[in-house]
Amino acid sequence: MDIRGLGYIGLHATDPDAWLNFGTRVCGLMPARLCPGPDGALEKSGDGRASDGTVRLKLDDRLWRLAVHPAKADGLAYLGLELANPDALREAGAELEDAGHAVSEGGAEAAAARGVGALLEVDDPDGNRLELFAQPQRDGEFVSPAGAEFVTGNLGLGHIVLMSRDVDASLAFYLDVLGFRRSDLFRFAPGAAGHFLHCNQRHHSLAVFPSPGEPGAHHMMLEMTQLDHVGRALDRAMRDEVPITASLGRHKNDQNVSFYMRSPSGIQLEIGWGGRTVGDDWVENEFCDGDTWGHHGPLMQPPDAAAD
Ligand SMILES: [Fe+2]
Repeated sequence: MDIRGLGYIGLHATDPDAWLNFGTRVCGLMPARLCPGPDGALEKSGDGRASDGTVRLKLDDRLWRLAVHPAKADGLAYLGLELANPDALREAGAELEDAGHAVSEGGAEAAAARGVGALLEVDDPDGNRLELFAQPQRDGEFVSPAGAEFVTGNLGLGHIVLMSRDVDASLAFYLDVLGFRRSDLFRFAPGAAGHFLHCNQRHHSLAVFPSPGEPGAHHMMLEMTQLDHVGRALDRAMRDEVPITASLGRHKNDQNVSFYMRSPSGIQLEIGWGGRTVGDDWVENEFCDGDTWGHHGPLMQPPDAAAD
């Protein structure tokens, strides 16, 4: 299977409007001009809101990259994984079924509701909803309300880190069935490791860590084209008193310079710059330490220390 990238992310949130404010004022994302409504019809939107209360945000020339759906509880709603075309999507569906995974065809209405040409739905071993899709709609120029610019294109929208109840089952699914390749693993404690997986030249589009509790998304990362844009986002976060959960720092494995903050729906958001890319000649590494410098704060402390 040839997944080309992490194409979009859907979140559930009790307060999508707070996300709209955070996404535009702090992160510099652009409210979507056109929002697919629940029946798939495109609604003109001046402020990123659809009639069902969903907020959609742009990072580039795609119709949207991040959707925040109103819900009774915060959490990850779905991940959109992109394939090259509808033929590749059909082949992916057959491979998933051959491997024993229940696949449902989204149908024209479900595809239109995501602004894509074709869609398949499957759950990963932890029950996270994945949407494999092809033919995303584009509506043109991205203009950040804060002067930011994001690294997307063939590298996808950024990365997501999942917390898994069964890392071995997750790895079997993402590596052996979906065709991700492992870039690194980070052994942070004896017998416990996080695994960083790529599906394009971005060092990782997805990572899987063992979860001591419920599965779900730990954080997502958006990458900016300039270090100054990251610094300005940090300034805006501090201005709006957004909780900074890890200070500016540089990861050893993907070499991103980044900081982390708590989004209005709880998921941590990493804003980075300067991530390394990987090629076909990449060999797996193992790290026993996460950072070259920085990334201090409650998010990065070991659980025992955080509880003190
Ligand atoms: Fe990250």
